[in-house]
Amino acid sequence: MVEEEVERTIEALLQERRTFAPSEEFTQQANLKDPSVYEQASSDPDAWWASQAERLHWFKKWDTVSELDPPHHTWFVGGQLNASYNCLDRHLDEHGDRVAYHWVGEPGDRRAVTYRELHEEVSRLANALKDLGVTKGDRVAIYLPMVPELPAAMLACARIGAAHSVVFGGFSAESLRDRINDAECKVLITADGSYRRGQTVPLKENADEALRDCPSIEKVVVVQRTKDDVNMVEGRDLVYRNLVSDAPSECEAEPMDSEDMLYILYTSGTTGKPKGIVHTTGGYLTGVASTHFNIFDIKPETDVYWCAADIGWVTGHSYIVYGPLANGCTSILYEGAPDWPEKNRWWSIIEEHKATILYTAPTAIRSFMKWGTEWPQRHDLSSLRLLGSVGEPINPEAWIWYQEFIGGGRTPVVDTWWQTETGAIMISPLPGVTTLKPGSATVPYPGVSADVVDEQGKPVGPDGGGYLVLKRPVPSMFRTIFGDDQRYRETYFGRYGDEIYFPGDGAKLDDDGYFWLLGRVDDVMNIAGHRISTYEVESALVDHPSVAEAAVVGRNDPKEGETIVAFVTAKSGSEGGEDLMQELRNHVAKVIGKLARPHSIVFTDDLPKTRSGKIMRRLLKDVAEGRELGDVTTLQNAPILDDIRTKAASLHADE
Ligand code: WTA
Repeated sequence: MVEEEVERTIEALLQERRTFAPSEEFTQQANLKDPSVYEQASSDPDAWWASQAERLHWFKKWDTVSELDPPHHTWFVGGQLNASYNCLDRHLDEHGDRVAYHWVGEPGDRRAVTYRELHEEVSRLANALKDLGVTKGDRVAIYLPMVPELPAAMLACARIGAAHSVVFGGFSAESLRDRINDAECKVLITADGSYRRGQTVPLKENADEALRDCPSIEKVVVVQRTKDDVNMVEGRDLVYRNLVSDAPSECEAEPMDSEDMLYILYTSGTTGKPKGIVHTTGGYLTGVASTHFNIFDIKPETDVYWCAADIGWVTGHSYIVYGPLANGCTSILYEGAPDWPEKNRWWSIIEEHKATILYTAPTAIRSFMKWGTEWPQRHDLSSLRLLGSVGEPINPEAWIWYQEFIGGGRTPVVDTWWQTETGAIMISPLPGVTTLKPGSATVPYPGVSADVVDEQGKPVGPDGGGYLVLKRPVPSMFRTIFGDDQRYRETYFGRYGDEIYFPGDGAKLDDDGYFWLLGRVDDVMNIAGHRISTYEVESALVDHPSVAEAAVVGRNDPKEGETIVAFVTAKSGSEGGEDLMQELRNHVAKVIGKLARPHSIVFTDDLPKTRSGKIMRRLLKDVAEGRELGDVTTLQNAPILDDIRTKAASLHADE
């Protein structure tokens, strides 16, 4: 289809189907079809969450469902369970031969891993880790590509009670180092390299660089993925496959208290170093198993489910590893890029494996829209019966495009709002119950209490805009920031008191009480669905010898999503030209990772500052987005804005 035709179709569909109720056919077969679940869950949230915890296997049942001591809360207190046991062992008798992962490597290699095989791999690796001295409560860093060894490594940690800290493979050596040191990890599990768009990413090289300054690491386990010749440090580095083959295949799953730590995952905050978000065992697993089952309407016997995120982010932790495996379903695990070797890679995977559910981010959907409908149209996608979206607000056009050209105009689209901190989906339709509105994440999941409030914490009511808050803790919510409980209190409960969780998002409520998410209200950007703070990018920029000062803002565009724009003052003697621009982009990639590279850099002689010297990022955001400038009266150097605007004109050249 040509582009104008696609646009006309989208417009017509938007008009015609502003809202759509679930089809009778879908509702009939849905896992959750009774709307009274909302009422029941809100009148007795503990009873609801307890019913969801029953999905799991508990070695010992809990004594109390929840104990609230705001801003802290604990769940299923006194209960004992093991996440790896829940994801593997309990499925073996009845469907051990079911495929857990259809793995697809980027170069075209593939492997189907059954629950039984994964169980054996995990047990062997767990024994090997024990042998390396890892014990309950230790932390293990994992820096791996999207290979089956990644979920295996996470589950091996969970099996012996060690907490994993997965670091996304796209992060740099420095980012890896900081995360390892913050959690004082004892062992690192990494790979020689990984494949991305036909190139290899030198993970082991990055790891070696990081490890020059990581005193807590005793051993390094190396998965041989690319089989490249890599440096192996005698006595420290061990080959994954040898370790696993040599270890015994039986390993008892350690009984863990419900509140024992399952993992740490780092995420960006507005200030300082990334925050180590701590998730515990019973509550987290309850939340992900429940939401995965009900929101994706999982039929473990027949569905082939694909969450196309990277396991290095929370979406992969919850909806590639723990949720799907706890529910015993079959997933697709794909290693590489969506446009390699061609732009139809995803659609060919869906056709080949007859995928029934696809869960991805608006940024990917927007790329597919740009690439054109001819790519999906080459393939039979009729196996799909449900689509999901996560990570950023999805614009109604993208929503309709997704449903029409990927979902064949038939499938529900569940737009799911949540965060690393919440562990599981908090606001989302139930596909058999909720009437959908393209662009809205709809309503809170049963048992979740959300609202939109103003600065003072007063509910804005229907049709009002303000700040999203969660008014009651839920089991899957994080418990603290690793090693920094004070920051936990200040960041999330500093605004409205200990009982009200503030996620940092703006939202609007409509007349039906539907939530429309508006993006972050703080200095956290959402770049291709990944959280990066302006602060981190600024710190990386000023760390470069030619930079005197830098201010970073996210530039929002409904079609492009958010991109990073940096305003940089070069040190005297440095030339702010094309060369420095390239150098700075590379520098940020080195310090944080490629994903944080500024899309545009504007060199300027000064930055707009208040009389007290505070940089006014709000005005720079106006400049970046080509808007009328907001209030400039508090500026000490207002004239500089004209100059910046002229220099930034090229940002809008294509509009
Ligand atoms: C944003 C990713 C609008 C939001 C799971 C949140 C969304 C941040 C949505 C968390 C959505 C996530 N609609 N915005 N459906 N889902 N967000 O921690 O700003 O990487 O605070 O978790 O992404 O990002 P995180």
